[in-house]
Amino acid sequence: MTQLIRAIIDTHALQANLRQIRAKIQGARVLAVIKANAYGHGLVPTALALPEADAFAVARLEEGIALREAGIKQAIVLLEGVFTPEQLAAAAHHEFEIVVHDPLQVALLERFNGPERFVVWIKIDTGMNRLGFRAEDFPKVLERIRALRTPAAEIRVMTHLARADERDCPMTREQLTRFRALTGQLGLRTSISNSAGILGWTEAGGEWVRPGLALYGVSPFTEQSGAQFGLVPVMTLASTVITVRQVPRGETVGYGGAWTAPRDCRVAIVAGGYGDGLLRSLATGTPVLVNGRRASLVGRVSMDMIAVDVSELPEVGVGTRCVLWGRGLDVSEIAAHGGTIPFELLCGVRQRVPRELI
Ligand SMILES: Cc1ncc(COP(=O)(O)O)c(C=O)c1O
Repeated sequence: MTQLIRAIIDTHALQANLRQIRAKIQGARVLAVIKANAYGHGLVPTALALPEADAFAVARLEEGIALREAGIKQAIVLLEGVFTPEQLAAAAHHEFEIVVHDPLQVALLERFNGPERFVVWIKIDTGMNRLGFRAEDFPKVLERIRALRTPAAEIRVMTHLARADERDCPMTREQLTRFRALTGQLGLRTSISNSAGILGWTEAGGEWVRPGLALYGVSPFTEQSGAQFGLVPVMTLASTVITVRQVPRGETVGYGGAWTAPRDCRVAIVAGGYGDGLLRSLATGTPVLVNGRRASLVGRVSMDMIAVDVSELPEVGVGTRCVLWGRGLDVSEIAAHGGTIPFELLCGVRQRVPRELI
């Protein structure tokens, strides 16, 4: 019992998922999205485990610098771009590709007089209303980027889909149509799809795709599991029983007495709480794999512990291994119990939980 709780990161699964994604994208190139500590999997280890990714995408400059400092040589795209001349100089120094989505960023590039030539991704807002230039502003921005005094090494165009995880959603079709109308004749390389676009909207196309969630083995669709797409979970949040107690019928368990034993029960206390990234909103009934068998979380999630009804599992004792999500227990199922999405659970695994690479 060296580590009571740990996030086991299966790098073979990561590589297998990348191959599975490649099988769906007809030769497009993969910009592996590893922002937010690679969705909780560990930024640098994830990048190192993906030598076959064509490039990496992160949200912020600091994430890109951490990758370069770890010796990552692939192209790195800053999805939110940079906001000051100093950041732009750092991006040039580290040979980052930059997304440009705001007029301020165009002006920064216009003032840049270094010798380094950027790959510039112009982001077009085709309906999400988060980042990107509106259709009416895009031609002028393109003209300005084409006229930079240090010419771009290459200009590419991208957009982001707001509802690709909804099957047959008219908004996605509209976004694709708008993007094609704006960029179809330009001869520039494009990037449109996140995981849901890749797996659900093959017609989206584009020379580059940007998978995040699917790379980690998780389905972006609520109605289909990762396994149905041939994906394998990369993270298994594994823990350990630290005590087992008899709870007489009618007594309550945990803070707030939120669960009352309906009969005499055996309750295992398992290491792992909201201090590790479990959500407090995970309520009675949330499944936990105890010794490979499903059991039910009971009562409230504490900071460091949960309680699990193991009345039907007589072999359970101190040291019994548990899985909170991952292999054998889809993180999407746990997310649904907590009223959230798998992204939030994965990203939310706290720093004190050691990542163990296999
Ligand atoms: C611009 C952009 N592209 C791609 C992705 C990857 O999305 P997903 O994890 O759904 O594949 C994200 C994630 O938030 C994103 O912001």
